[in-house]
Parts: sequence; structure tokens; C-alpha cells
Amino acid sequence: MIEIASVQKRVIRNHYDIATLFYRLLWGPHIHHGYWESNESPAIAQLQLTENLARHAMIREGSTLYDIGCGMGGSSQWLAKHRQCEVTGVTLSPVQRNWASLSARMHNIQPRPKFVCADAETIQFAAESADYVWSVECTEHLFDKPAFFKNAASWLKPKGRFALCAWLVGESPLSAMQIEQATQVCHGMFCPSLGSQSDYGKWFSDAGLVVVDQGIWTRQVERTWEICRNRVERTGVRYLAKILGKNHTLFLNHFDAILNAYRSGAMEYGYFIAEKSS
Ligand SMILES: C[S@@+](CC[C@H](N)C(=O)[O-])C[C@H]1O[C@@H](n2cnc3c(N)ncnc32)[C@H](O)[C@@H]1O
Repeated sequence: MIEIASVQKRVIRNHYDIATLFYRLLWGPHIHHGYWESNESPAIAQLQLTENLARHAMIREGSTLYDIGCGMGGSSQWLAKHRQCEVTGVTLSPVQRNWASLSARMHNIQPRPKFVCADAETIQFAAESADYVWSVECTEHLFDKPAFFKNAASWLKPKGRFALCAWLVGESPLSAMQIEQATQVCHGMFCPSLGSQSDYGKWFSDAGLVVVDQGIWTRQVERTWEICRNRVERTGVRYLAKILGKNHTLFLNHFDAILNAYRSGAMEYGYFIAEKSS
């Protein structure tokens, strides 16, 4: 695992409160990487990531599902619409909570997902109340990841599953250059730490979950950052970010850092499906 001390939760919340509009304009309703099989559009690639994770998790129709770090509710809406899941989405950002609720209402998504503004590290759900916990690109922002996994495991029913996508740090040993690249990403993207694939395996198993499927999708997703970088350069977003504050410029300036980190092996993009024993 790689850790940095400078990230603060209020900065993460503020980033998503302010940047959500830009994510929507520049990228789409999903705030996660696209998954490319060939030359699909970014919009299709974003959906393919959700579809692939749902397929690997074998999401059953009508399940109860908690979407932790739900962004604008893109995955929550897809899971409600295509798997008829009863979804509760959780986000740290009040702006995203309102956005996701409004969007689900405007698209008349049934069953209607619920969205709450809460900290995933302190929220309480009833024990054994969920068939699935779903989390795409949120755990990077959590401060005590092992404690979160223990908590989340308690929400799952027996045989319930945790489906997760995360930015990973490469397995050790890493070179000094790779450590520097991953550290830059943590700074620019507001991640207090990044775990490796084996760290996540340990956090799942310490929480009483068995990883039944996992894999690395770095090559399928890395194009995301080339596209985002080009879209930022083609539009006036950089100027707007400057006006909004230095943290937003910091974020835009780190698109190359993450591409470099993926290409050097300093970082990987991984998915995990972990199951609670009966
Ligand atoms: C990269 S976005 C991913 C959004 C969404 N999962 C998606 O795929 O579109 C990260 C999300 O994690 C949320 N997040 C970060 N830290 C959180 C925390 N401590 N508690 C709840 N949500 C958090 C942010 O508000 C944001 O919605």
C-alpha cells in the first residue's frame, strides 16, 4: 500500500460538490473509467464497465444493493433499471446526492433508487440487510480501508457479494520512480492511500469475505485519461478550474500522472468479487 498524509475528507467532498458538473459535461453520467473492447464511444465504454462488473458479480434480479460512493447515480440507475435491484446509493457529496435523486426521478427509474449523503466510513446499515455491496472507484478515497471492509461485510447477507472496482498501486517491490508516480496520483486525485491487488485480497479476507473472482483491466480502461486530457484541452475547462480554486487545477494536471503510472506498472485497475460464507 502507498499512503500520503496531506489528503483531507473535506477536500474530497468539496471536489465532488464542485466538479460533478464538469464530470457530467466532459465525461458523462458515470464518474468511472470506460472499458474498451475495441473502438466504442466513451459513453458505451462507461456502460461496458458497469455491465462487466455486474456480469462478474452475477447480480440477481430484485436484489437489495448498496452502491457505496455512487457519484451521480449512474450505476445505481443501471442496476435498478436492468436488474430491478432495490438500490441505496451513498455519496459524501450533498450535490451528488441531490443530482442522483433528481436524475433517477427525471428518467423515471423503477424501482426508484434512494440516495443518501453520508460518509461510507461511518454509515450504518442493518446487519445482513444487503444481497450486494457495489463500489466503483470510491475506496481509493477512504482513510481506514480495512475497517470499511469489515463494516461492509456485516451488511451482507450470507452468500451476499461485494463487487468492487478500484485504482490499485502495483505490487511491491516498486522502483523509486513508480512510487513517485503513484504518490503524485494520490496527491492530485485526493486518495489518502492506494492498495495493491494483494492488499485488497487481505482486506476482504480479514473481513470474512472470500474473493471468488478478480482481475486486472488496466489495458481496457487506460484510454479514459487520453480522452479526458484531450477534452480538457479542447474546452475552456482549465480556465474555469483556475477560477474555482487550486485543487481543481491540481486534479486536471494529474491526468498524465495516472496515464504514466498505468503505463509503468506503478498503478493497475482492478475488479474484485468477494462473497460472504453461508
Ligand atoms: C470516482 S467517483 C465514483 C462514482 C460512482 N461510483 C461512479 O462510478 O460513477 C467517487 C465517489 O466516491 C464518493 N466518496 C468518496 N469518499 C467517500 C466517503 N467517505 N463516503 C461516501 N462516498 C465517498 C464520492 O462522493 C464520489 O461519488
